[in-house]
Amino acid sequence: MYILSFESSCDETACAVCEMSDTSRTIKSNIVASQVDTHALYGGVVPEIASRAHIEAISKITYEALSQANLTLKDIDAVAVTYGPGLIGALLVAVNFAKSLAFANNIPLVPVDHIKGHIAAAYLTHKELKPPFLALVMSGGHTSFYDVKSYTSLDEIGSTRDDAAGECFDKAGRVLGLPYPGGHAMDILASKGNSDAIRFPSPSIKDSLDFSFSGLKTSVINYVNTKNQKGEQICKEDVAASFTKVIAEAVQSKVDEALLKTGYDKVVLAGGVSANSHIRKAIDSLCKKRGAHFFAPEISLCGDNAAMIGAQGYYEFIDGVRANESLNAFPS
Ligand code: KG4
Ligand code: ZN
Repeated sequence: MYILSFESSCDETACAVCEMSDTSRTIKSNIVASQVDTHALYGGVVPEIASRAHIEAISKITYEALSQANLTLKDIDAVAVTYGPGLIGALLVAVNFAKSLAFANNIPLVPVDHIKGHIAAAYLTHKELKPPFLALVMSGGHTSFYDVKSYTSLDEIGSTRDDAAGECFDKAGRVLGLPYPGGHAMDILASKGNSDAIRFPSPSIKDSLDFSFSGLKTSVINYVNTKNQKGEQICKEDVAASFTKVIAEAVQSKVDEALLKTGYDKVVLAGGVSANSHIRKAIDSLCKKRGAHFFAPEISLCGDNAAMIGAQGYYEFIDGVRANESLNAFPS
């Protein structure tokens, strides 16, 4: 079946068409209109600007997604849309657009949780991947472990107690003067530095599957500000490498604990931060050591996109999940 899907929870307006069945998980089109350049001027996402930009982009990218897939609305079997979590004004754009499109054309509407969508991105890359498995979603707004019991049901078994990993990467990038969002630039910089140069506090919280990134974030900001005040040179590569090392090590040891706790032998890493080469390497080497299988979406599907919403929308549809005219957006 063909699923037309929408995503507008943060600063990407996205529309995709996926062809999904028991045996096929195919992306026919996946259009992302990014607002990153606009928000970069402010060093972070400005919610009001995000909502307006979604409104301006959504019709155009819907035409693009359908025409790239060589389909019309008549071919579409279901419409899927992210209803939360995210910025309320931003979410409302795709929710209302999808509602109008679905009900005016008599197409079933399926509400999709953004976090489940990030996990479903891995189904599109790894056609053999099936639940149950352990998932770690690391994005700009979330960092949590999930026991993924089936395609549609999951339990959170650990989480950050404050900031998300992506937020921590972005703030570290900002203090180092890197372009917003800093995650990708930090990844590249970290490859060129000495990861043992500076000791930053670990984001790992003992005796739990939880993280705390706020101490690490403050520590890197203080390190850079103190150096600047003293007029001392900063080796950005060493800061990025040392910062990334404590995160990768914490993630590696928490994944190890989570594997032991759940008894699973499959690990999915998802969300924008799952593009990080150092974190991927750390989990991959742990999985090899433990005889577990490691799955992560291809890089283009790690960040926010609508194909992942279409993939999850398919499994929700099969499970009988439908939205009516009262569907609303849920920020958290
Ligand atoms: O999942 P996502 O696209 O949006 C949210 O749902 O939040 O995640 C965006 C986050 C940003 O914080 C961005 O800096 C981070 O993902 N990110 C990375 C990398 N690529 C994107 N963080 C670390 N390393 C990367 N290579
Ligand atoms: Zn996301």
